[in-house]
Amino acid sequence: MHYAQYLKLDSILDAQKLESEKLGKVAHDEMLFIIIHQAYELWFKQILFELGSIKDIFQADEVDDLKLGTITSRLDRVNKILKLLVDQVTIIETMTPSSFLEFRNLLNPASGFQSLQFRRLETLLGLKYEDRSTIEKKFFNLRLTKQESSELNAALKEPTIKELLDIWLSRLDLIDSKGFSFWKTLRETVVGMFAQDELLIQNNITLDDKEKSAELENLKKTIESFNVLFDQEKFDKEKFTFSRKSMLTALFITLYQDYPLMHLPFKILNSFLEMDEWITKWRYAHALMAKRMLGGKIGTGGSTGHEYLKKTAQRHVLFKDLFKLNSFLIAKSQRPNLPEHIKNQMSYHYQVLKKNV
Ligand code: HEM
Repeated sequence: MHYAQYLKLDSILDAQKLESEKLGKVAHDEMLFIIIHQAYELWFKQILFELGSIKDIFQADEVDDLKLGTITSRLDRVNKILKLLVDQVTIIETMTPSSFLEFRNLLNPASGFQSLQFRRLETLLGLKYEDRSTIEKKFFNLRLTKQESSELNAALKEPTIKELLDIWLSRLDLIDSKGFSFWKTLRETVVGMFAQDELLIQNNITLDDKEKSAELENLKKTIESFNVLFDQEKFDKEKFTFSRKSMLTALFITLYQDYPLMHLPFKILNSFLEMDEWITKWRYAHALMAKRMLGGKIGTGGSTGHEYLKKTAQRHVLFKDLFKLNSFLIAKSQRPNLPEHIKNQMSYHYQVLKKNV
């Protein structure tokens, strides 16, 4: 096997055909523009490959505990790649808006809208067609080939990673609630914490009356959403995407994350939050870069450009329920004390062999 042959460098390195060159006048920065898009698409491929394997593990009738470590290390890898994708925006930003104008018209009407892999990535993670804004729906399938469209529509029918995570969490039977009222104690503690927050707002001399009532209103909403976790009827009326059981399980995992049995589940939850953050960071970085390149011009795909991209960044937080949970965290010292048999179940028991001196 030869290096170039194994890596198919012939095809890869022959895939940069500058439109400006075909017209007889090379626009220098078009090479960077092509290569950076290709690099992104290659990394999208790797991310889809990793997420696809995670989906397969979660999709099994019974998720194999021995594979949780594999899930966390692959999620970690995806997050490292996403970080790189955010950093890479700075490379495209070395191109000036006027250099971009040298070849921009030659791309029309090609656009990032047509990145099938990006759409598949959003879809696989859990972004539904109905979650998209009217304008996004309009562009969703537009100018995709028939083949791309049918691939995307097939992907939309598949269970998403977010749904599978919800099922996995709802199936975990972490606490044997018989004999102790964990949730009752937790509720009382969290309500006590909120009462302290209320006092802090009331006594804050830097806030005027209007600001105080706005903060108190916010706090009231947080308390209401916490209470909703304990009332199925109320829960069903709220816009949660996870089930109530999953939310409680995720809260338990987060509260007791330092117990060995909770390490991997906590790492998984945390990695999904981190992934959401990286994707949002990429959306904002890309939107800002588009603003810098285009000013108020519309995109080659026909959207309002920066405004459109900024709105998708604000709208598409996939794991918002998990972010919400962190409002209900309490100090470790205030956590309800678990019965010994549960503490035992959640711990490793290393046997320390004493040296015979
Ligand atoms: C000069 C550089 C770039 C500019 C000015 C730019 C601008 C835009 C604009 C205005 C849109 C909205 C759709 C439209 O009207 O065309 C868009 C969408 C998109 N672009 Fe870029 N882009 C640039 C580079 C990149 C790069 C390097 C990637 C990497 C793959 C990328 C990926 C995407 C994706 C995936 C979308 C769809 C986003 C969504 O619908 O949420 N863009 N881009």
